[in-house]
Amino acid sequence: MSSVVYYGAVVNPTSLTSYSTLPRCLLSVDTAGTIEWIVETVESHELQDVLATKGLVDVHVVEIPDGMFIMPGFIDTHTHAPQVPNIGTGGQYELLGWLEHITFPMEAKFADSEFARKAYTSVVRRIIDSGTTTCCYYGTVHLEGTKILADIVHSFGQRAFVGKCNMNRESPPNYIEPSVAISVQKTQDLITYIRTLSKSSIPTQEPLVQPIITPRFAITCTDDLLEALGELAAAEPTVRIQTHIAENRSEIEFTRSLFPFAPHYAGVYDHFKLLRKNTILAHAVHMSNEELDVVKTRQSGISHCPTSNFNLNSGVAPVGEYLDRGIKVGLGTDVSGGFSISILNAIQNASIASKVCAFQHPGHTTASSPSTFANKPLTVATLLYLATMGGAAVCDLDNQIGSFARGKSFDALFINVSNAAGNPSLWGLINGAPLPPTTEERKVLLDGWLERFFFCGDDRNIDKVYIQGRLVGGRSFQAKN
Ligand code: GUN
Ligand code: FE
Repeated sequence: MSSVVYYGAVVNPTSLTSYSTLPRCLLSVDTAGTIEWIVETVESHELQDVLATKGLVDVHVVEIPDGMFIMPGFIDTHTHAPQVPNIGTGGQYELLGWLEHITFPMEAKFADSEFARKAYTSVVRRIIDSGTTTCCYYGTVHLEGTKILADIVHSFGQRAFVGKCNMNRESPPNYIEPSVAISVQKTQDLITYIRTLSKSSIPTQEPLVQPIITPRFAITCTDDLLEALGELAAAEPTVRIQTHIAENRSEIEFTRSLFPFAPHYAGVYDHFKLLRKNTILAHAVHMSNEELDVVKTRQSGISHCPTSNFNLNSGVAPVGEYLDRGIKVGLGTDVSGGFSISILNAIQNASIASKVCAFQHPGHTTASSPSTFANKPLTVATLLYLATMGGAAVCDLDNQIGSFARGKSFDALFINVSNAAGNPSLWGLINGAPLPPTTEERKVLLDGWLERFFFCGDDRNIDKVYIQGRLVGGRSFQAKN
């Protein structure tokens, strides 16, 4: 076994406002799946010389064919694996009614481990093939079912955080944990189990599958449960924490009534020491300035779930403001509040949500400086950032994933924009015509491909999915397996 060298079109995010389009990029991945080096532009006649400077002679170069480009994999910072069977239903409800009538009844079925195994096998397969290389999963309250989810994620080779929901009140009788002690014990058991499953073979990198502490939201957790989870978290500083916050107005009001001591919703989690730099807060639709200050101070991240926020009539999260404040933001599908497992759909709705903010507050757009995001449509660069580097920062994994750089993991998508992908004529390519010869002309074309992929693409265009250098999904992978 030796390194693999790829040569061809690469899109690489570089900041909240910029990305590189590299039509002739050379990129080497070592046997552990880590990026060894990148040379951004190599004209074809220079190829052998550049390889020679890397000490490589007669090396096999994998050429990325014309009509295909590579980009970093998508990071879904918030989804519920057991809700996938409910996708596309329940949109008549708002959050609390939807949980009661649609969501909890489905999640209760995951007490049956065989049901869980069947459902999760197809769910994880679909999520990988949609281009999600890192996923923050909520399981159910069931320890066995959630272990099964972790097993499947591990066996498919996805990078993920897998959590068992903590819920000991305001939940149906058949879908609730009987005590704080049992809820915490099962959480600990899951942490131990996932750690045995997936040890990192690379000393400098974290394992692919990791546990995550998952108090579902403040409403379903008593004070003493939140306190115990805060203590567990303090003993496990590297374990991530995920929960929901300020999604819906009735939810916020109910939360305030359950925790009268807290100054606001964020104050509940902060009181129990659950806000820290590896905490992922889903939704954050209706946040006060004081709450945003707390989130910023604690360096917690926000998972923006625009599809769900529209679908459950929750509202529009002003993520531009959060970005201006320097708060970390990534994207979440929030299935089945959101009706798509694909981050592409989250990208599309994040764009629409930002345009809604912009036209609701038109006066605020003109005076903004170039570095300001509030009340402005998100650009393609920012959308790309949120789906990749932003998600990596929210997961506290930005040193390892989110973009292509020396030392990072090769978590990558091969995007097929040729007519053969099955949604032809979207790409600014005339069928069969050769690509323009110069690198500059190809950059323009590649830019167009990225935007069209975001808004018109789907999983037919995701030809290959690599995680830690290993081919684990995509259209051509399915064809062979
Ligand atoms: N708040 C608590 N649980 C959930 C859930 O499953 N989905 C969403 N969207 N919000 C929640
Ligand atoms: Fe959610």
